[in-house]
Amino acid sequence: MRVLVINGPNLNLLGTREPSVYGATTLADVEKQLRELATELGLELDVVQSNHEGVLVDAIQQARTDGVRYVIINPGAYTHTSVAIRDAFAAVDIPFVEVHISNVHAREEFRHHSYLSPIATGVIAGLGTEGYALALRFVRSQL
Ligand code: DQA
Repeated sequence: MRVLVINGPNLNLLGTREPSVYGATTLADVEKQLRELATELGLELDVVQSNHEGVLVDAIQQARTDGVRYVIINPGAYTHTSVAIRDAFAAVDIPFVEVHISNVHAREEFRHHSYLSPIATGVIAGLGTEGYALALRFVRSQL
């Protein structure tokens, strides 16, 4: 039961990036916590972070080849701009959960629209980095 966690642009800076919005936890901390949880839940976990839209599209396409059963994605700013990432999910037909650390709906209006949400299984927003672990537990319940 293979699960892929994808983080998009600027999420490599977690911990130092706008800590009042995104908190003090680093991406390495998040990935370590998720790896431990995945082991506990009996899941195989792959993680990828990129600042490049095409690399994220490639990772989603590769997920099908690799037999990934579910994706958890924080697409960062590409949430609000990327038809290409949405099309990649539609093409591979792998279910996914969209995660946002901040409550995008309580922020600027341009963050209120997501190209991905209409085809996501569900969306977690505003629960901090804990949202990733909650998403992983949900995914486990679906597999
Ligand atoms: C984010 C919210 C996005 O609007 C923003 O561009 C990010 C992070 C979040 O996790 O809250 O990079 O996806």
